Amino acid sequence: MIELDNVSKTYGSTRALDSIDLTILPLRTTVLLGPSGCGKSTLIRLIIGLIKPDEGSVYVEGELLTPNNIFALRKRMGYVIQDGALFPHLTARENVSLIAKHIGWNRDRIQNRIVELCGLTKFPVDALNRYPAQISGGQRQRVSLMRALMLDPDILLLDEPLGALDPLIRFELQTDLKEIFKTLGKTVLMVTHDKGEAGFFEDTIVLLRDGCIIQQGTLSDLVKKPADPFVTRFINAQRSPLESIQNKADSKVF
Ligand SMILES: Nc1ncnc2c1ncn2[C@@H]1O[C@H](COP(=O)(O)OP(=O)(O)O)[C@@H](O)[C@H]1O
Ligand SMILES: [Mg+2]
Repeated sequence: MIELDNVSKTYGSTRALDSIDLTILPLRTTVLLGPSGCGKSTLIRLIIGLIKPDEGSVYVEGELLTPNNIFALRKRMGYVIQDGALFPHLTARENVSLIAKHIGWNRDRIQNRIVELCGLTKFPVDALNRYPAQISGGQRQRVSLMRALMLDPDILLLDEPLGALDPLIRFELQTDLKEIFKTLGKTVLMVTHDKGEAGFFEDTIVLLRDGCIIQQGTLSDLVKKPADPFVTRFINAQRSPLESIQNKADSKVF
């Protein structure tokens, strides 16, 4: 569905991506995991064609991405980023319908699709006329997701879509997103730096460090068969609440 063939991208002296070979399988959820600065967003931006690789090729549904076909291919990809990137001066409805209007959908078709998407993403229809500042962070991400899904793309690219949300809202949206992915049967590529979130969504996890793929597999593969000591360090670096309580209890004893 998506293929990166020996792709590299350098910014000044930073090798953001270093000779990446990656195949994203159709109709599955692939999670890009790794510490801040390891190249996750760069990889997503290359696929949506916002930046060009210095070396190597990106293929989307078998087609080599070039300046000539990027706009056509982009219609087959929905893109959601951390803060939603909604236009603040447009209502939720206007944000969601912008591209459909631009390509000539009529009012009824747009309205029907929006109502359908409100059901899918659990966004209240009566809040559609509000501006982004008048809805909650979780609702903004639901609007951003509706906008990405409006043209019914085959591929969804999500760059830390839940990163800016508080834990309870994040938990709720994780559950809803997983359900949506299952219902729609899309090819999903999702970025996170949270291994718990990665494990919740994954069909496959791709773990990156310093622009290189360190390991690809399930969370269980990463835990049980780490390809590199970094994998174990990364997996163990995030503290669970239970562990924190245990540590506090231990420190009281001594
Ligand atoms: N436009 C840019 N200009 C300069 N450096 C950049 C740019 N975009 C990304 N980088 C650098 O490339 C590396 C990878 O960045 P990024 O893909 O955003 O990482 P991640 O999303 O994993 O946090 C980082 O070192 C970052 O500072
Ligand atoms: Mg990023």
